[in-house]
Amino acid sequence: MKVAIIGSGGREHMILKKIKHNPKITQLFVIPGNAGMQQEATCVPLDITRNEEVLGFALEQKLDFVIVSPDNPLVGGMVDVLEEAGIACFGPRQNGAILEGSKIFAKDFMKRHAIPTAQYWTFSSTQEAIEFLHQASFPIVIKADGLAFGKGVIIAQTLQEGVKCLKEMMEEEIFGESGKQVVIEEFLEGKEASILAFCDGKNIAPMISSMDYKKALDGDQGLNTGGMGCIAPNPYYTKEIAQKCMETIFLPTLKGLQSENRDFRGCLYFGLMLTKEGPKVIEYNCRFGDPETQTILPLLKSDLFEIMLKVSKRELRTEDVIFEEKASCCVVLASSGYPKDFEVGHPITYPSSFEICFAGVKEKDHHLINSGGRVLSVTSIASTLQEARQESYQKISQIDFKNRYYRTDIGKDIEEQQ
Ligand SMILES: Nc1ncnc2c1ncn2[C@@H]1O[C@H](COP(=O)(O)OP(=O)(O)O)[C@@H](O)[C@H]1O
Ligand SMILES: [Mg+2]
Repeated sequence: MKVAIIGSGGREHMILKKIKHNPKITQLFVIPGNAGMQQEATCVPLDITRNEEVLGFALEQKLDFVIVSPDNPLVGGMVDVLEEAGIACFGPRQNGAILEGSKIFAKDFMKRHAIPTAQYWTFSSTQEAIEFLHQASFPIVIKADGLAFGKGVIIAQTLQEGVKCLKEMMEEEIFGESGKQVVIEEFLEGKEASILAFCDGKNIAPMISSMDYKKALDGDQGLNTGGMGCIAPNPYYTKEIAQKCMETIFLPTLKGLQSENRDFRGCLYFGLMLTKEGPKVIEYNCRFGDPETQTILPLLKSDLFEIMLKVSKRELRTEDVIFEEKASCCVVLASSGYPKDFEVGHPITYPSSFEICFAGVKEKDHHLINSGGRVLSVTSIASTLQEARQESYQKISQIDFKNRYYRTDIGKDIEEQQ
């Protein structure tokens, strides 16, 4: 089979590593991919925001299967375009991806199907939103409706902060169209858990739980990032909570999708808050997370590509998805300064035996250089979190480039409790 993965980050590199040895695959492309993937697949520099461009390539190459991984093309209907041209895909259709594409849609969906989530109010008028804040209690959560590179959520501690945020999102349009409408949400307290699930529209098979570290600096300080590291399993996500999530969240979500004829064949990501009143949904994503994917896929015992084929054909069985009962720790190596300004162009050195998931890298004079904020990640799995952490940090210390930066405390809080 001729297969393509759409995307260019660490997440896509891990998907590539997990499927590349499947004997059914005769040729493997990554669109656009990055310089760190070139030895494992053919990178094709196309504009993945343009469905027609990707479709043209897929038809010309007679691709058999396309894994559409990032949010933008999914929300933009790339799977619809490819499947209507007869090319099988892993990834939801546009009417399923809207669970991530519009936070207002997702909240209304949860309300329609009685899925536990924070109380919320939606606004398209800045004036009305500001008036609402005047009688609200703080902290309160303000979210841009559409995709905003993971930056569209503000937890406002005061009225002034809330008003400033509303003006920036709705009037100054710092997130463009995405912020023209907003959701204002009750602030939930608890531990967060990320649960990714394979979903073929008929069945849903949750993967091992994980916990990501979003803040830039040690001790959860600093700005929000795309993710600086992640561990699995999530120690707060007990068997009892998992059971409860299945009954009150996962199955009702699946039934809701079915009853609304939404075609979801891909990875459905549940961002959960484990509150005193039980687990509640913070958000849905319509795809694998980054760096959750780099953290959990090394623990997947079953063949990822076979699962993806089954998902696409609506033949998924929960027993097809088996994870090792081990711990995993993923640490991201970033360019110092990220998520703000950072220097690029520094050569990266690393032992050739390491399995590294590359993200923000380019090639210059036959050498990889950093070209983005999150540059690469390493993952280790072991029987205990402590060992997995040690191994990942051991590896990170042997990977070098000028001005590299990483958090030193991924999983440390959990290890100290255990
Ligand atoms: N209702 C809420 N109560 C408390 N914290 C929240 C709430 N909604 C979001 N958050 C926090 O903000 C983060 C980002 O929100 P999320 O809805 O996941 O948006 P995105 O991932 O698109 O930025 C969450 O991981 C969580 O830490
Ligand atoms: Mg989130």
